[in-house]
Amino acid sequence: MAVVRLDGLTKRYDRNHPPAAVGIDLEIADGEFMVLLGPSGCGKTTTLRMVAGLEAITEGTVSIDGRVVNDIPAKNRDIAMVFQSYALYPHMSVRDNLAFGLRRRKMPRVEIDRRVSDAAEILGLTVLLDRKPHALSGGQRQRVAVGRAIVRDPKVFLFDEPLSNLDAALRVSTRAEISALHRRLQATMIYVTHDQVEAMTLGTRICIMNGGRIAQVGRPMEVYRTPADTFVAGFLGNPPMNLLPGTATDAPGGCRLRVGGMRFDIPEHRTIPSAPGLAMTLGLRPERVTVRPTGSSTEVAITGEVVQVEALGAETLVSLRLPDVEPLMIARLPGDSEVAIGTRTEFFADMALAHVFDADGRSMTAQREREET
Ligand SMILES: Nc1ncnc2c1ncn2[C@@H]1O[C@H](COP(=O)(O)OP(=O)(O)OP(=O)(O)O)[C@@H](O)[C@H]1O
Ligand SMILES: [Mg+2]
Repeated sequence: MAVVRLDGLTKRYDRNHPPAAVGIDLEIADGEFMVLLGPSGCGKTTTLRMVAGLEAITEGTVSIDGRVVNDIPAKNRDIAMVFQSYALYPHMSVRDNLAFGLRRRKMPRVEIDRRVSDAAEILGLTVLLDRKPHALSGGQRQRVAVGRAIVRDPKVFLFDEPLSNLDAALRVSTRAEISALHRRLQATMIYVTHDQVEAMTLGTRICIMNGGRIAQVGRPMEVYRTPADTFVAGFLGNPPMNLLPGTATDAPGGCRLRVGGMRFDIPEHRTIPSAPGLAMTLGLRPERVTVRPTGSSTEVAITGEVVQVEALGAETLVSLRLPDVEPLMIARLPGDSEVAIGTRTEFFADMALAHVFDADGRSMTAQREREET
């Protein structure tokens, strides 16, 4: 059992700068794979290091299984951390690298041998046990670093961007290995990344951070489908959600948005409180914009000038300039779509799938969907 709980966790490195992490409230369930996701500098590593006991806590508490561990030194927290830069001992074999920490703890030899061979088995390192790190590939070295955490049999695993030094192909395969490892060990894991694909594929839940604060916590598809604000909407998804600035106009019993020269009626079941003239943002996922009508009764036509076409094979990304709208709108179309640059083309979007954000960037529609479910 290992439930990790953060209450009001705050870190201020120095007085003259805003805190690196502020009021983080988060409970990670036993066996959960929690991903901390966010852009560079948003406080992910700082938060993880406070959990590990490597960074002093300014305010708030970290608890493990109901016990506050703020004053317990890192080595006694029963937590293992895998870092981005995994320094293996170059002069030691894989076996000795794995065993090193346990020997220092004066663990009996038989127990060390058992743990090392179990971890090697899990990670496919058995045939490499007598090699030195220089004779391993980048992915194999990273597996040894993970193995050093596994042999400790900790209550909680912490990972800080463990894949960021690997090339693209290796990152994909190692990601799958970490996912399999979690299924096998069923351990509580907290994993830091700025890569949304890693977050979506690995996480039981994702905690998205922005400027030291939590922007949203939820299951991967939940945060993708119902982003709480424009930050999350613009961070998850590739390309991210189109965010088009607009204003509310009067519409009895519903919501109508004016975006540039266009008007969009947001269907009744997604009505949101609005006052005429209020600034709002219309959010449309690029994958929800089509070139052929789907026939939905809430669908609208959007005509724009095609300014860029990127044929990526499986899909084609089209950038559109809409009348009097500042950012270009991106449509993600099937790879066989034929759209010509420079033409005025009609596209379609279903307003029942559109998102609406208020002047502060908070989603009005996400709130609505949560109330309904
Ligand atoms: N030891 C430190 N002293 C002062 N400020 C620090 C220290 N460590 C981090 N910071 C600041 O705290 C903020 C959060 O840093 P942190 O390393 O937690 O970000 P991160 O989300 O892990 O970013 P990245 O994705 O780049 O690793 C940043 O503004 C950073 O400059
Ligand atoms: Mg970091």
